[in-house]
Amino acid sequence: MSIIFKQNKKLFTIHTKNSTYQMHISKYGHLIHNYYGSKVEDMDLSYLIRGVNRGFSGTPYEAIDDRGYSLDTYPQEYSTYGIGDYRSSCLTVEHIDGSQAIELIYDSHKIYSGKYHLNGLPAIWAKENEAQTLEITLKDKYSKIKVILSYGVLEELDVITRACKIYNDGETPIYLNKALSCCIDFWQDNMEMISFYGRHAMERTLQRRKIEHGKLSVGSVRGTSSHQQNPFVILCETGTDEDHGKCYGASFVYSGNFIAEAEVDQINHTRFVMGIHPEGFRYYIESKESFLTPEVIFVYSDTGIGAMSNKIHDLYRNHLIRSKFIKERRPVLLNNWEATEFDFTQEQLVDIAKTGNELGIELFVMDDGWFGKRDHDKAGLGDWFPNDKKLPNGVKGLADQIHNLGMKFGIWIEPEMINEDSDLYRNHPDWCLSIPNRQPNVERGQLVLDMSRTDVREYLYDSISKILDTAQVDYVKWDMNRNLSDIWSATLPSNRQGEVSHRYVLGVYELMERFVSNYPNILWEGCSGGGGRFDAGILYYMPQIWCSDNTDAIERISIQYGTSFGYPISCMGAHVSNIPNQQTGRTTSISTRAEVAMAGTFGYEMDLRTLNEEEKEIVRLQIQELKKYYDVIQYGDYYRLTNPLEKQELAIWQFVDKDKKKSLVSVVALRTRANAPFSKVCLKGLKEDGFYQIGDGKELYRGSALMRAGLNIPVLKGDYPSLHFYIREVE
Ligand code: DGJ
Repeated sequence: MSIIFKQNKKLFTIHTKNSTYQMHISKYGHLIHNYYGSKVEDMDLSYLIRGVNRGFSGTPYEAIDDRGYSLDTYPQEYSTYGIGDYRSSCLTVEHIDGSQAIELIYDSHKIYSGKYHLNGLPAIWAKENEAQTLEITLKDKYSKIKVILSYGVLEELDVITRACKIYNDGETPIYLNKALSCCIDFWQDNMEMISFYGRHAMERTLQRRKIEHGKLSVGSVRGTSSHQQNPFVILCETGTDEDHGKCYGASFVYSGNFIAEAEVDQINHTRFVMGIHPEGFRYYIESKESFLTPEVIFVYSDTGIGAMSNKIHDLYRNHLIRSKFIKERRPVLLNNWEATEFDFTQEQLVDIAKTGNELGIELFVMDDGWFGKRDHDKAGLGDWFPNDKKLPNGVKGLADQIHNLGMKFGIWIEPEMINEDSDLYRNHPDWCLSIPNRQPNVERGQLVLDMSRTDVREYLYDSISKILDTAQVDYVKWDMNRNLSDIWSATLPSNRQGEVSHRYVLGVYELMERFVSNYPNILWEGCSGGGGRFDAGILYYMPQIWCSDNTDAIERISIQYGTSFGYPISCMGAHVSNIPNQQTGRTTSISTRAEVAMAGTFGYEMDLRTLNEEEKEIVRLQIQELKKYYDVIQYGDYYRLTNPLEKQELAIWQFVDKDKKKSLVSVVALRTRANAPFSKVCLKGLKEDGFYQIGDGKELYRGSALMRAGLNIPVLKGDYPSLHFYIREVE
């Protein structure tokens, strides 16, 4: 049993393989957090809580003479605004009289096998025997509002998920001005937050900061999870590194606005909260209606960040992503975007695909530009019918030609967007997000469709499924190329406009669900100008996401490095593109570009016709090699052996299969030097006493030697040279 309730002590304990999470119901009925950290066997940890009158930290009324009992200093399980806890709150409720306070008292609980579901929201899933759920119902002391806290426990993976439902059981409506998903109070002030910041074409750059007095907050108010911050953070103790120390990965399973906030309070405890960003958020809840917060996943490791990442990778591959493709080898892809952008004809595409086919490419993807009057980025979005100049026989005409080559065929779509120069806009100008009597903010010449509207979603489903039903489409890339602004929906009354951003995300999820469940044989890839919506929410619907519009191999090393902390390699779209690179102007060899793209869902995004014969032969071999290594890369454990942000000379990463029999080590030289000193690297994840062969080499190396003494890296010369070692156990 991973969840235990002790009635006599009013104590809830959750055990995972390596962690313990505990809370108790206080004598006044509040749910007090005792502990979350390394495993502690059967023990009531309430002794950790010491009530001291701190001054300026009040008590609930009934504790008037118990001055040490303060909601401002006691660790809370779900902090609320307005009742004397002045730290970061999770919940702000506005009642009919305008007051904003809610004091939550334990009401009841239940424990059951399996994992809870969240209607309309993505969430971790598990079989009955793989997880357990704890649901604790809390009630406002003075109103009839209930809060149901849900905890999902996947013991083996050290995972605890959290979400909650706020239910208005009263007779009058309320507003939620803030409704975060979780709060955790830690007994320490030696914690750091690792977050992943960026911008378009440079996503998920690691940043590590000490959590101190005052709030350390990252988030997005862009309507999507964003390029600028990712909804995945790591909390760790000072000194924690890849292989040592305690850390908690916190991932928000949501694709819209978010906040992850931490602070050290007046008595040097650390509070962490996560959920939907409160800016612009206001939810109206009628009597007997409820609001469901998205899920936060916590993954614990006390053996460093590397182990935490591998647990998250396993979790996502086995309990988040539903697509059948997560367990299948995904086809090697060729995308035409960087080769042609909008300027192509059907013949050109077929010609590009043909060259790809000769080299071993398995899937050809027609990117943006095939529909409506889409000859540039200011027209066409919303008109999901083929552009008859480019595709005289429709999408089917091209799809058939590609299939005749023996390849699979895919298309690009951007359902959530609309250009003013489109039939859709001319017919339905009110379908986009915009505020009456204001000119909307425009980005890339496009506006955002109001995805909270059912009629909009119906139109999108009908028009896009018409394409999918008439042509054989094996792959779809779902793009989203701007952030939300001018948030106002023509279908909602004024008191519900604060709901639009969240309803937008729910609408997107509903549409995605409809598509992916009705077209399960299509390989879906998420995208938002590269990795602007790279989050666990999207992965619930699609097994892979285009990692970044930055396809420069050297920059990609940092982007993929940052992404790997919270996401499996098997979900990162990574392609070999043209040189000089479109974004940076840098030139790297085709081998180095492929070395980097192999640490992702591999493909090419270039005009392969421009390669010379020697390069074409290299591409042929790359594809063959990829197939050989595929299982290790996509299903194995992943190790970051160097940190490319620390300006090391070599970027090195490693994959090891689950049986520890095979491993692939990739090396890229970020800087080459004259008379270079020797380099070696200590590998990870092998069998201590196994014997390994490196490539076709004759010598055998003990696992412990490769892991402790290291593997020699030859001196590499030239601009950004690379190599890999394929290592196999010899029994
Ligand atoms: C942004 C994507 O990230 C690119 O790969 C490409 O699909 C363009 N959009 C097309 O407009």
